[in-house]
Amino acid sequence: MSENDAGVQAEQSPKHMARVIGITVAAAVGGLLFGFDTAVINGAVDSIQADFGLSASVLGFTVAITLLGCAAGAWFAGGLADRWGRKKVMVAAAILFAVNSVGSAYAFSEWDLMAWRLVGGLAIGIASVIVPGYIAEIAPSKWRGGLASVQQLAITVGIFAALLSDASLASAAGGAGEEFWWGLSAWRWMLLVGVVPAVVYGVLALIIPESPQFLIRAGRDDEAARVLSRVAGVRDTTGKITSIRESFQREDRASYRDLRGPAFGLQPILWVGMTIAALQQLVGINAIFYYSTTLWKSVGFSESDSFTTSVITSVINVAMTFVAIFFVDRVGRRKLLLIGSIGMAIGLLAATLAFFQAEGSGEDIVLPGAWGPIALVGANLFVIFFAATWGPVMWVTLGEMFPNRIRSIALGVATMVNWVFNFIVTLTFPWVSENLGLWTMYAAFTVFAVLSFVFVRTRLPEFAGKDLEDNAELASTS
Ligand code: GLC
Repeated sequence: MSENDAGVQAEQSPKHMARVIGITVAAAVGGLLFGFDTAVINGAVDSIQADFGLSASVLGFTVAITLLGCAAGAWFAGGLADRWGRKKVMVAAAILFAVNSVGSAYAFSEWDLMAWRLVGGLAIGIASVIVPGYIAEIAPSKWRGGLASVQQLAITVGIFAALLSDASLASAAGGAGEEFWWGLSAWRWMLLVGVVPAVVYGVLALIIPESPQFLIRAGRDDEAARVLSRVAGVRDTTGKITSIRESFQREDRASYRDLRGPAFGLQPILWVGMTIAALQQLVGINAIFYYSTTLWKSVGFSESDSFTTSVITSVINVAMTFVAIFFVDRVGRRKLLLIGSIGMAIGLLAATLAFFQAEGSGEDIVLPGAWGPIALVGANLFVIFFAATWGPVMWVTLGEMFPNRIRSIALGVATMVNWVFNFIVTLTFPWVSENLGLWTMYAAFTVFAVLSFVFVRTRLPEFAGKDLEDNAELASTS
């Protein structure tokens, strides 16, 4: 079915809209856990270091090991989604999320904690693949971008919830290291509360329908027809099923071998996906979210002002995602990404110039005169543009850009690249800013923001409004 007859053949009544939004929100709870579990450690780190007597590098590794788990989880999620179906993979992720929360909360040593955090990473990695892919598959094409952006909305809400939950537990207990209920210290409670959304996610994953793509591949056409008509409002379900089946090209299930191609051994579209995934991290968003309190203290803010600033940045991050939800299907992915790259580059450049004026080193730097506020405005400008564009739109694009046959595994591989670059930035940031100055890191982020513009401009096709079945064609012309 082409772009034009999608509108004619699909009936998208308010009933369908309500249903598809409900299913999207349920699936996006995976995104909430992704955000919550990546951010929750922030409020706990100092007490973990004190309780287990950790050196800075062991502590750094205990924090970062989750990201390695994420990369591994993402790699496996794609293959599993094709084998077990999207729903079962979501349930598996929910179980891993729950196990990680309980295990980490009761950890008796740093080794034990690292092992649980690795398990948590697997869960986050799986969720980061399954949610965008699933939403892209159940959504009607004309709302696909907005619906898939709900995942990023959930991620940002998760990050914000972790910040608030950590702060309220610490204040209720009189400090993150102080004992709270049931003889557990507050930092352990911070990690434990994640079990609640994990259980909710597991239950919701059992209730929502399986993706039509998976059902058709499994020969369960009747069920697929029901989902297509009830959720996406497709009228001619037989025609749609035929076109989805044709888009698989072959009967057998795709394997990693299908990713091979003429461009340095891989399919060109996979390079495009991996590059946007890498760029989304290389602009440095998590240097702000993972190290914000240190950052604002270095700008001369007090402890409580730093916390307030982190809350404001986090709220901006949530609020600006609505811009993408509203515009991504109307103006298209490419335009949003290009505008985002320009805005991010300007904000990052301002922050770079400000940090270049820094006096002192490490955590004790001071920004003279107006440079403190300039850094603050620059960094928040960057977050505004990231949240309205690259944050959500990169995930939307990864979910929809690959041809049906290889969607899950290619999405898994590209997402793994996103986590690997997240790991690299997170690990190098403290060292580089300590030894070469914070400004060097921001200068690099600025350069990557500029490169992100050039890359989208020259390499990324527009997927807005297209049916997923048409992507094979678009992908081969990229
Ligand atoms: C995106 C990024 C993630 C980041 C988040 C911040 O989802 O992939 O790494 O933490 O945005 O909102």
